[in-house]
Amino acid sequence: MAGWGWALLSPAALLVVAELVWAPDPYGEECRTKTYPPSGPTFKGNVPTYVINLDLPPSKRWDNLMRDKKTELKTVVQNIKDIANTFFPSGKVVDIVDKKIVHLTATLPYPFNEELKGIANSSGIPLGEIVIFNIFYEIFTVCTSIVAEDKTGKLYHARNLDFGLFLGWDVKNNSWTLTRELKPIVVNLDFQRNNKTVFKSTNFAGYIGMVSGVKPDLFTLTMNERFSLDGGYVGIFEWFLGRRDGMWMGFLTRTILENATSYQDAKDKLAKTRLLAPAYFILGGKNSGEGCVITRSRTATLDIWDLDIQKGTWYVLETNYDRWKPPLILDNRRTPAMKCLNQTMQENLSLPAIYDVLSTKPVLNKLTVCTTLMEVDNGHTETYLRECPDPCSPW
Ligand SMILES: *[C@@H]1O[C@H](CO)[C@@H](O)[C@H](O)[C@H]1NC(C)=O
Ligand SMILES: *[C@@H]1O[C@H](CO)[C@@H](O)[C@H](O)[C@H]1NC(C)=O
Ligand SMILES: *[C@@H]1O[C@H](CO)[C@@H](O)[C@H](O)[C@H]1NC(C)=O
Ligand SMILES: *[C@@H]1O[C@H](CO)[C@@H](O)[C@H](O)[C@H]1NC(C)=O
Ligand SMILES: *[C@@H]1O[C@H](CO)[C@@H](O)[C@H](O)[C@H]1NC(C)=O
Ligand SMILES: *[C@@H]1O[C@H](CO)[C@@H](O)[C@H](O)[C@H]1NC(C)=O
Repeated sequence: MAGWGWALLSPAALLVVAELVWAPDPYGEECRTKTYPPSGPTFKGNVPTYVINLDLPPSKRWDNLMRDKKTELKTVVQNIKDIANTFFPSGKVVDIVDKKIVHLTATLPYPFNEELKGIANSSGIPLGEIVIFNIFYEIFTVCTSIVAEDKTGKLYHARNLDFGLFLGWDVKNNSWTLTRELKPIVVNLDFQRNNKTVFKSTNFAGYIGMVSGVKPDLFTLTMNERFSLDGGYVGIFEWFLGRRDGMWMGFLTRTILENATSYQDAKDKLAKTRLLAPAYFILGGKNSGEGCVITRSRTATLDIWDLDIQKGTWYVLETNYDRWKPPLILDNRRTPAMKCLNQTMQENLSLPAIYDVLSTKPVLNKLTVCTTLMEVDNGHTETYLRECPDPCSPW
């Protein structure tokens, strides 16, 4: 559950919560099978691929993508502004964002500052709103990520990207408005230098951090939000106030995908870099046993859960809860996902089998925007837009 979401519960969502409290897990189902290749009512379409040329100056890299997606991005940004205005009706918040955040962009490290300016310029969206969209996105991501190894030592990495929590429930057709509006801006990106792929990612157009990516033949990486009550977001407020010694989570994942040289290098950097907010990093490598979930606070690594084939740990899985704690009873995607992986067995592991797991409710839910399947070999990536027709868990 995205942390801030609870503070923003709309009446409609409260109703749903009340229903769920009295009838736990009414939306669960038997583990799905044979859902791959994707088709039918839970499949909403494929996503386009864009090349991001790292040889261009940062302010020009996103021009092509923005030319195609600016209208859809505007819709999303407008929706977020409408929500802000619902909670702060004076309109002041949006005003502040447009006018004041701009100065903060200058404090972001290169090349991110320049890329954000370029996106604002080519989309026609005020820079402050582009920056907020990037921040917002890091904070409201609820997800399920899996790294798993088959009997031959081949590694797979997959995730459902769930986003849009509590940001407007559309009673007309039982869906999250923002989740729906985000689907048209999902893109696969192929970051190239000298016309050669450096890494690939699945992104929302306009977001320059990374939440899912693969560096071909080296590692795969996903990031999930970790809500921590113990001052989890203090770092973000401090950043606004001028103390900037931590790194944005999505900038760290981007830097690692772009410049880390091995699984171990990536793992060390994810474990040691000071962050602005807590996070889970899910990392897969190329060799047997290379897979882990890193649980981070802002300043420390709280836990690293590694694959351990000898001991029978052939997968690691993260939703949005520390593995040593039970998940929120209202939001238990972990147990169903583990149950289905256990049923699959290592013998039968494959990308289609993982797609089955990620297609089983409530692992698949109303917030699920897309499913990404990755293999480190050759940087193979597949992304599918998702839909969760009723009856379906709202998250
Ligand atoms: C902004 O966009 C215009 C055209 O849309 C372009 O001529 C200009 O170079 C851009 N500025 C920057 C800083 O990228
Ligand atoms: C849901 O309803 C809105 C209007 O309230 C409509 O624009 C949208 O297309 C509908 N979405 C789906 C998936 O039916
Ligand atoms: C990349 O390929 C294009 C044609 O596909 C070529 O015009 C360009 O010079 C190449 N760039 C580099 C850096 O090799
Ligand atoms: C990666 O390293 C190159 C070369 O040092 C640098 O130009 C680039 O900005 C780095 N990328 C990121 C995202 O920091
Ligand atoms: C899945 O299997 C693991 C390892 O045998 C076990 O620890 C775990 O409790 C199982 N989980 C479920 C939900 O079946
Ligand atoms: C799983 O693998 C076993 C042996 O490798 C095979 O007998 C069985 O049919 C497979 N099950 C599924 C559901 O594919």
